[in-house]
Amino acid sequence: MKYSKKELQKELTLKQFPLSAKYDIEWINENEMGPNAIWLAEFLTDKINLKKGMRVLDLGCGKGLSSIFLAKEFGVQVWATDLWIGATENFKRINEQGIEDLVYPIHADAHDLPFANGFFDAIVSLDAYHYFGTNEMYLESLIRYLKPNGQIGIVVPSVNKEFNSKVPERLKPYWEPYLFTHHSPNWWKELWGRSETVTVQVADTMPNGYENWLKWDETLKEAGILKRSGDVEMLEADGGNFTWARIVANKK
Ligand SMILES: C[S@@+](CC[C@H](N)C(=O)[O-])C[C@H]1O[C@@H](n2cnc3c(N)ncnc32)[C@H](O)[C@@H]1O
Repeated sequence: MKYSKKELQKELTLKQFPLSAKYDIEWINENEMGPNAIWLAEFLTDKINLKKGMRVLDLGCGKGLSSIFLAKEFGVQVWATDLWIGATENFKRINEQGIEDLVYPIHADAHDLPFANGFFDAIVSLDAYHYFGTNEMYLESLIRYLKPNGQIGIVVPSVNKEFNSKVPERLKPYWEPYLFTHHSPNWWKELWGRSETVTVQVADTMPNGYENWLKWDETLKEAGILKRSGDVEMLEADGGNFTWARIVANKK
């Protein structure tokens, strides 16, 4: 490995994300299902008002990194909900962190959630909403679980310039149809803006979104521990169109 544990931690500590700096890089890498869910969660919490005791749905939490982060940093209760990862597996990780009184693992499909209407103060989703939320109807079906004035915030892989159904030449070797779910903040703003149940408060991109994404993946690759093979090559070929979008809205 090119880096010692300490060097790796230093290399992947960004001034932009001071709360994330406390979390062990190898632990994040072991449990992430996309690039650094902890950075994404910290980016989102800059625009979402979370207070101790609030009830938060973390939808598409994967292995629960963001749920653990939110509970630890803000003292909120988190319903860590995911489809591909089972509740028992996530419960083990939550127990290891000693926060089983704050984070509750749920195995469920985003299209068939087992919650009461009006239950949550906030709904968040990190690097997951694009898998199930790219049509008009989905937001309407999800928003029922929020209290009036509750907040919904997502961070999703995004593009500065829309693909508009065309695969760019430079990305052809790496292309998967799934990449058409990557949209600009304006695209999301328009989608959510059509809803009469929410007011969009924020639709922007992460400062240095592309650079951070590349830095994370490249450094893990250099360290010999990157699990998502092919990601660095695709990002390099992309040259800076990919980024992260953050969309935040309030229920009316
Ligand atoms: C790229 S992973 C990101 C996971 C986690 N947020 C992270 O960043 O490590 C996408 C997640 O979306 C979840 N997902 C996809 N479709 C879903 C659905 N219909 N209902 C619930 N979760 C879903 C998957 O289970 C997966 O964990």
